[in-house]
Amino acid sequence: MGRILAPLACLVASASAGANSLLKHDSFSTVHSVSTGCRQACSELSSSFGPAFHWPQNDNFTIWDAKQQEVHPACRVEPSSANDVASILRILVDHWCYFSVKGGGHSRNPGDSNSLGGVTVDLDRLSSVDILEGGTQARVGGGATTIQVYEALETQNLSFVGGRVGSVGVGGFILGGGTSPFSNKYGWSLDNVYEYEVVLANGTITIASETNNPDLYFALRGGGNNFGIVTTFTVRAFPQGPLFTSMTTYAANQSNQVLEKVYDLWTDEQLASDKAMGYDLYYTYISESDEFTLSGTQRYGKAVRSPSVFRSIDRIPTLSRSTSIGPMSQVVDGTDSMGTTRHLFATLSVAPSRSLLSKGLKIFEEEVEGIKGVAGLIPNFICYPLQKNAIAAMAQRGGNALGIDREDPLIIILISTAWSKKSDDVAVNQMTANVVKRLNATANDLGVANRYKYINYASAAQTSAIFPGYGNKNVERLVSIQKAVDPRGIFTSKGLWRGFVKLL
Ligand SMILES: Cc1cc2nc3c(=O)[nH]c(=O)nc-3n(C[C@H](O)[C@H](O)[C@H](O)COP(=O)(O)OP(=O)(O)OC[C@H]3O[C@@H](n4cnc5c(N)ncnc54)[C@H](O)[C@@H]3O)c2cc1C
Ligand SMILES: *[C@@H]1O[C@H](CO)[C@@H](O)[C@H](O)[C@H]1NC(C)=O
Ligand SMILES: *[C@@H]1O[C@H](CO)[C@@H](O)[C@H](O)[C@H]1NC(C)=O
Ligand SMILES: *[C@@H]1O[C@H](CO)[C@@H](O)[C@H](O)[C@H]1NC(C)=O
Ligand SMILES: *[C@@H]1O[C@H](CO)[C@@H](O)[C@H](O)[C@H]1NC(C)=O
Ligand SMILES: *[C@@H]1O[C@H](CO)[C@@H](O)[C@H](O)[C@H]1NC(C)=O
Repeated sequence: MGRILAPLACLVASASAGANSLLKHDSFSTVHSVSTGCRQACSELSSSFGPAFHWPQNDNFTIWDAKQQEVHPACRVEPSSANDVASILRILVDHWCYFSVKGGGHSRNPGDSNSLGGVTVDLDRLSSVDILEGGTQARVGGGATTIQVYEALETQNLSFVGGRVGSVGVGGFILGGGTSPFSNKYGWSLDNVYEYEVVLANGTITIASETNNPDLYFALRGGGNNFGIVTTFTVRAFPQGPLFTSMTTYAANQSNQVLEKVYDLWTDEQLASDKAMGYDLYYTYISESDEFTLSGTQRYGKAVRSPSVFRSIDRIPTLSRSTSIGPMSQVVDGTDSMGTTRHLFATLSVAPSRSLLSKGLKIFEEEVEGIKGVAGLIPNFICYPLQKNAIAAMAQRGGNALGIDREDPLIIILISTAWSKKSDDVAVNQMTANVVKRLNATANDLGVANRYKYINYASAAQTSAIFPGYGNKNVERLVSIQKAVDPRGIFTSKGLWRGFVKLL
């Protein structure tokens, strides 16, 4: 039970729920033919990269999602510097060989970060963390994981705007958004980057900051993998001691009260103005007991035992409560199983609505009802706010690309499901699509729909709707920047780097 309640542990738990043995029999490899160009590129890379080069036959590479694990690249290479990345890119372009770039590898679609028959450029060796400017900044490698950064900064009692799970890469996380327990105070991760070191499509290594390449700097704040390969992020670092986390579960007869208080936490001016506060809401189907469980994760950025901001919600009786005070490296979930569980995320955003919350849980229950037979099933309805403070931070240093056009909070909804067998992919996709469609229809009825969808939570079915959600003006600007930095379209869906969410 405790494991299921850990932040996003839903995604982690099923792998240890006995599904693994089933999976071994049911999964099969997705084989893609390798082009002559890629064969040549791989042999060239193999001679220059030595132990940092891997043919698939003798590679024990693992990646988070089973669907990405099933993919077979032509080869995998691990650059150790921006120069390495630039020379790899030149080889790939010379031979016109498809590739994917892997940061922490937590995407869910085949080809997002493990290449379908092309080269997987694995940034895992780019994981250095250097503390700069007297501890106010950190330069972080483009392939670092969340836990690596937390641990390095904590040696100096510092932290950064990082995520909730240790194995997630800062690369994909920061390029798409990056929501954090610290977001109410500092904003999303993409608004806390001072400088990007980036390798462009032609192999040029450049710096994007507010003053150097400001257009590219804007584009990298939300533009995902469409502009370049980021080799370092220079991010805000800040003094941070241990913080408070409390995970609670509630009986079904308390749901209404809980939703009431959660809604207050997210919308009440006074409560929400306590910038140390964060609250994530989960509604999870637990197959073992055949029931839906409402739970919440409270966070408070200080070593305070029962922070008063949660006083009201803490009066509601719980089924369980586990409380801790510790640094982020201990609070995050770091023990992810790799490559054995299938995952689907899908998302939408809405203006806060108490009514949508209850209706949303009901819709989720009804749709999950139809797929309860799916092996290893762990479906979650997760939401948390993009707070006013975080929205305000989006306007700093020339603004970001997300096009969030409001002052008031927005609720990010994530439908996240884990399961075991490929034969259930269709059922889970359908359930998820139904939930999103019905939530959106309900949001429209209630007048709380919003165009924004968080790129890092998008399903494959949603990829074409992501950039339109940034608004026309931003899309036009992003397109013109893309064309300027990558005139041959190497990083577009017509070029060589096609996975994830493409602008063009
Ligand atoms: C268990 C789990 C927990 C999560 N928790 C949070 C959370 O708390 N907050 C939140 O906001 N999101 C969270 N996410 C979502 C997460 O931000 C995205 O899945 C993100 O894309 C993962 O980045 P990655 O580097 O691990 O993945 P990858 O699959 O390696 O990368 C995602 C995409 O970005 C590209 N990319 C990665 N690094 C670089 C780089 N350096 N330069 C250029 N392109 C790059 C890749 O090519 C790929 O297309 C979570 C996801 C999971 C699975
Ligand atoms: C497998 O990976 C580990 C670390 O991830 C490494 O130490 C080991 O040498 C690898 N083995 C092979 C056969 O490549
Ligand atoms: C970090 O904080 C702890 C506890 O306050 C303190 O003992 C330690 O000296 C600090 N470390 C550094 C490097 O400042
Ligand atoms: C609510 O449900 C719990 C557990 O299911 C039960 O113990 C409790 O008595 C119920 N409370 C009320 C007020 O019905
Ligand atoms: C949500 O509703 C709006 C307005 O009706 C529509 O334009 C949009 O395509 C819908 N999105 C989804 C994901 O269904
Ligand atoms: C590489 O592309 C950038 C962006 O378009 C351009 O400024 C630069 O001059 C190019 N470099 C070379 C060597 O062509």
